[in-house]
Amino acid sequence: KTAQSKALGQRLDEAVAFIRGRTGQVPSLALVLGSGLGDLADAIEGVAIPYGMIPHFPSSTAPSHKGVLHIGTLAGVRVVAMQGRMHLFEGYTPQDVVLPMQVMARLGATTALLTNAAGGIREDFLVTDLVLIEDHLSLAGLAGNDPLRGINDESVGQRFISMNDAYAKRLRCEAMAVAGETGVDLKSGVYGFVTGPSFETPAEIRAMRALGADLVGMSTVPEVIAARHSGMEVLAISTVTNKTVSSLDDDHITNAEEVWEAAELIRPKLASFVNALLPRIAGT
Ligand code: 6GU
Repeated sequence: KTAQSKALGQRLDEAVAFIRGRTGQVPSLALVLGSGLGDLADAIEGVAIPYGMIPHFPSSTAPSHKGVLHIGTLAGVRVVAMQGRMHLFEGYTPQDVVLPMQVMARLGATTALLTNAAGGIREDFLVTDLVLIEDHLSLAGLAGNDPLRGINDESVGQRFISMNDAYAKRLRCEAMAVAGETGVDLKSGVYGFVTGPSFETPAEIRAMRALGADLVGMSTVPEVIAARHSGMEVLAISTVTNKTVSSLDDDHITNAEEVWEAAELIRPKLASFVNALLPRIAGT
């Protein structure tokens, strides 16, 4: 349903009012935790609210899926964190997918840190690598799934927004500095966004490589677009959970289990990196 009876700004206000009724804490940073990485949220000291309780939050068709909003302190930083995100492949509209982002911005977050699990397209990206997203190729967005499509609420953001500086150089430099100091081999790359849930064919991986994508995944880009629209600065990190297959001669079968298993392996590395990073990128 794209036609909503209430303006977006009003729906966001109602969600914010509900959350404010649970905690007076004003977050400075919005954190989105990707597949298999959600346990990081358990270290947040504060309140935890299931998505289903928050007015206007999209409700999941898959009841087993974890969806909890955490508001509290992590590594000394006031954060609001999404433990579990919405994906287009679940059937959510692009507008549904980004509503939590817009709520987190309205709660006061001025910086967003997003994480995800991604397939590595570039040959030198290895499973368990952390990759800083420096730019994206929104194949799904360019094909008509831009979350800002439709009526624009000027109380949220402007009709047309630049994506030239989507991933703030200042934050990327800070992340690289923290990586150097903590001994993390942080790489950089372009994230290609598809809706899924089917994985890509070898021909599609070759096409994405030719177009300039270094990674491929089914999340993050809609949220980044909404974050920029809402005036937040963005930093995004992919964890490489698998290598993509670009030839029919490669007999590897891409599957969800390898993605989950690798995400599990990467989690401690990502957790310690995020902990070191947060105080360095959060606005005060
Ligand atoms: Cl290979 N493709 C997509 N679309 N998303 C992924 C992935 C691959 N690996 C992890 N996430």
